[in-house]
Amino acid sequence: MTDIATLIERRERLLGPGNPLFYDDPVHLVRGEGVWLYDADGARYLDCYNNVPSVGHCHPRVVEALCRQAGRLNTHTRYLDENILDYAEDLLARFDDSLDRLMLACTGSEANDLALRIARFNTGGEGFICTNATYHGNTAAVYQLCSIFEPFEGHGEAVRMVDWPDSYRALDGLSGDALADAYADQVRAAIRSFDESGIGFAGMMICPIFANEGLPEIPPGYMDKAIGYVRDAGGLYVADEVQSGFGRTGDWWGHTASGITPDILTLGKPMGAGHPISAVVGRGDLIDNFRRSEMYFNTYGGNPVSCAVGHAVLAVIDSEGLVENAASVGEYVLRGLRELQSRYEIIGDVRGRGLFFGIDLVSERDAKTPDSGAAKKIVNTMRHRGILMSKIGEHDNVLKLRPPLCFSNENAELLISTLDGVLSEHSGNGK
Ligand SMILES: Cc1ncc(COP(=O)(O)O)c(C=O)c1O
Repeated sequence: MTDIATLIERRERLLGPGNPLFYDDPVHLVRGEGVWLYDADGARYLDCYNNVPSVGHCHPRVVEALCRQAGRLNTHTRYLDENILDYAEDLLARFDDSLDRLMLACTGSEANDLALRIARFNTGGEGFICTNATYHGNTAAVYQLCSIFEPFEGHGEAVRMVDWPDSYRALDGLSGDALADAYADQVRAAIRSFDESGIGFAGMMICPIFANEGLPEIPPGYMDKAIGYVRDAGGLYVADEVQSGFGRTGDWWGHTASGITPDILTLGKPMGAGHPISAVVGRGDLIDNFRRSEMYFNTYGGNPVSCAVGHAVLAVIDSEGLVENAASVGEYVLRGLRELQSRYEIIGDVRGRGLFFGIDLVSERDAKTPDSGAAKKIVNTMRHRGILMSKIGEHDNVLKLRPPLCFSNENAELLISTLDGVLSEHSGNGK
């Protein structure tokens, strides 16, 4: 048996306190394969959480590409190299024609930081709108847009927050067009408030599926209206696809569901299946304008090994049909979750997009009172039953399921039956 307490003590002593660690009994993982993770004592866990190794843990084709390129050449990014060009061609071909430039970086935070700079440079404005329950990364500039944690520096003059669009706990109990209008009006009001403060407006940064907010049903019409206000005011729509990209939603990109093409978007997490690679993809006029004036250099972003890995990830998604798999297995999981909802009062709402699910737990169904205590307990109990998952949302009460994209119907059955057992115990078998 590994001594978990000793590892935790060493971690705190060497890395400092406050390093986020999942579960009341943290897991010490030593190996991964496909949808499975193994701890130091040999226990096996079904991974229902990790979107970074989205093609499956330690995919042989990705590992092989990494080793092959690492054994041949890896440099910084100021030499001619075909890996980056081959990768750029393949990746950009998967977007709308207007999104025809790529800049590579290493983390989602870095990509979002760069996207803010590009938007601010091109518009001449500083002001950015984000939602009131979001996270876009950890650089000084990007963290000012963070609303699920409070930056000690504050949010600065140039950030305005709007409510995230929620159809379940709907603003003022509204529905239909009135609800979409009410949320979009907040965007218009934020733009007006920048005007009144003499702060030029640059744009709005949102995750197109509002993943950190709790994966809401977006009120139909909201995106058209909100982005319409942004563009009418000369601002840019920056889509943070760090979570929603690369097939997660059962579509290649999260933004396509709304039918609105962003001006700039950012990629990360699943892009390198665990290898740190991220990107800004944008309209050629915006990127070229920025590039011509600002010297942007990134030592590691786009190095030959990262590009070989990123390219292998695309090849695996294509050859294994993982986008289609996310859509079809996603439907299967959703049906199972809705069936649980019909039997357990605690499940107020079930939301899903491809292989990304939010299960909104409530202590009273009619009042929709968020039950964060139950969410914490269920996540911890599931961990002891061999299923790894987590929670999200403004109220921290939404069970979050986001397995690797190679998840199967058989995996789904294990997930649903285990969750059924845990919910049954939690509710004292009171169904
Ligand atoms: C939507 C979103 N954007 C950006 C980031 C930051 O990415 P990274 O941790 O790679 O810097 C995260 C991280 O959780 C995220 O959820």
